[in-house]
Amino acid sequence: MCGIVGYLGTKEAFPILIKGLHRLEYRGYDSAGVALVDKDGNLNVYKTKGKVANLEEYCKDKDISGTVGIAHTRWATHGEPSDKNAHPHYSQSKNIALIHNGIIENYLTLKTFLISKGYEFKSETDTEVLVQLIEYMMQEHKLGLYDAVYQALSQVTGAYAIGVIERNNPNVLITARIASPLIVGVGEGEFLLGSDASPIIEYTKNVIYPEDRQVIKIERGKEIEIRSLDNEKLIKPEIKQIQLSLDDIEKGGFDHFMLKEIFEQPKSLNLCMNGRLQREQKEIILRGIQDYGERFAKARRILITACGTSWHAGLIGKYLFETLCRIPVEVEVASEFRYRNPVIYSDDVLIAISQSGETADTLAAMELAKKQGAFIYGICNVVGSSVARLTDSGTYTHAGPEIGVASTKAFTTQVCVLAMTALALAKRMKTISEEDYHRIVGELCNIETKINKILDQTEKVKDISKIFTYARNFLYLGRGFNYPVAMEGALKLKEISYIHAEGYPAAEMKHGPIALIDEEMPIVVVAPHYKMYNKILSNVQEVKARKGRIIAIVTEGDVEIRKQADYVIEIPETEECLSPLLTVIPLQLLSYYIAIAKGRDVDQPRNLAKSVTVE
Ligand code: M6R
Repeated sequence: MCGIVGYLGTKEAFPILIKGLHRLEYRGYDSAGVALVDKDGNLNVYKTKGKVANLEEYCKDKDISGTVGIAHTRWATHGEPSDKNAHPHYSQSKNIALIHNGIIENYLTLKTFLISKGYEFKSETDTEVLVQLIEYMMQEHKLGLYDAVYQALSQVTGAYAIGVIERNNPNVLITARIASPLIVGVGEGEFLLGSDASPIIEYTKNVIYPEDRQVIKIERGKEIEIRSLDNEKLIKPEIKQIQLSLDDIEKGGFDHFMLKEIFEQPKSLNLCMNGRLQREQKEIILRGIQDYGERFAKARRILITACGTSWHAGLIGKYLFETLCRIPVEVEVASEFRYRNPVIYSDDVLIAISQSGETADTLAAMELAKKQGAFIYGICNVVGSSVARLTDSGTYTHAGPEIGVASTKAFTTQVCVLAMTALALAKRMKTISEEDYHRIVGELCNIETKINKILDQTEKVKDISKIFTYARNFLYLGRGFNYPVAMEGALKLKEISYIHAEGYPAAEMKHGPIALIDEEMPIVVVAPHYKMYNKILSNVQEVKARKGRIIAIVTEGDVEIRKQADYVIEIPETEECLSPLLTVIPLQLLSYYIAIAKGRDVDQPRNLAKSVTVE
């Protein structure tokens, strides 16, 4: 939540900061702001409620200059979205400005202390406390900015990535992090900060990924200085290369990132399987299972934890591991898992799934399980993210950057990794026959082509979507492997169209939700042709008898459900355990086009942010 950008170099910082904010806007869009030290030595802050476009409008007639600056796009935690709560925040004397992503947990204690020392606060944020504390450290202990930030952070508990600049010293930019993402770009005579690499890649591919509890001094014409908050030791910066191109973070001709990412799924699945799926031999080679297969095979249980869409992928993981490997699996949303004192055995394997690798609840759940001795396996998209760093082993999904707030390609690549892991493990444990193994792996090779076939029906889905913009509620039904897909379809619809939707196991409908059904109610039934087909057909008939309007996702050539449904979208035949990779695609398209027809901002839906780095 919240995006931070910083620049120190020879160019005018303002356009670079604004471009960076646009690229990070998926992280929050309640307010935006910039602070720069200009050529006359003034530290100017410009900030306003709303999106980055509002900030641009607000700044358009102003004479803004400076070659050092910081910028912020906010997802509100402490204090409502407003001009005064927007970042950057000034210190009392207006000599320092600060941006912050995260939460200062002990801000009330610090605020009381600072008020007793005569500090006045202009905002309701936790962030303003930090900038005031830095100023207090400078004045009270006669420290320079770097030392003052260091001392202030030693008193702070919580999570943060910050950027700090000072009026009197336009040659210095300070940054630091704990549990919030931060990347420092090191270019030719210039340095950049970003919550991810997107504001940086246009200028340099050389970056430093600061570790937790590091405070970094960036100074014009000097080497970067890094100190650990634990022991004041100087740390040698390790420069790495970003594996990302500009194309990856642009819309590429699509109206929205979400649509681009839906259409990218064949390619991202290909990248996900690349080097892991041997197409000719119909084999899966996964490093995690090669190296740690024994640990999995001896596991008492597999625990899966995640949030949102990643949790839905985890629910499919349960079906995969239990069906193919015969290992008991428990799946739980991370926010519940971390606080309910779960029973964790040292011979458990915990799989944490996260697109961003920065979701606070997922990280806390991992830490808890790690402390209790479980083996931690991560499935995540962002290379070098906190999830990746906390694991004992894991598999990257390699979906490429996902910018639309609604997860699409992250979901299918997560399911793909889970399927590959379960298949490789099942082979190793001999819980699957050679014949079944090769047949399913062979089918995985065909998935990209089959997704393309579904994408060819986009116009049809678009037409169906237009009919249902009136709806205030939707019910999504599925069974077995496709019950989590029903939940995912419902989540996609509600988060971008603001239509209430529920995903239900189809047979549970009779135990309550059936009361909702009338001639107005759209019901999306995920009903491909597998062993539960006749059961779900009965559920469809129950809906029809109550005049519900049925949109059915069926296997090509379906006869029976077609007779009952009002609208039918076909998916190609595939193995049941892989079917979520196909059935979810029409549901993504349906939610996208309903949201578009309702005039919603699909890439930046209200109240949401891409990565939830606060609990
Ligand atoms: O980055 P993560 O996968 O950990 O994020 C988890 C959820 O916040 C995320 O999936 C969220 O539910 C999406 N907006 C769903 O589209």
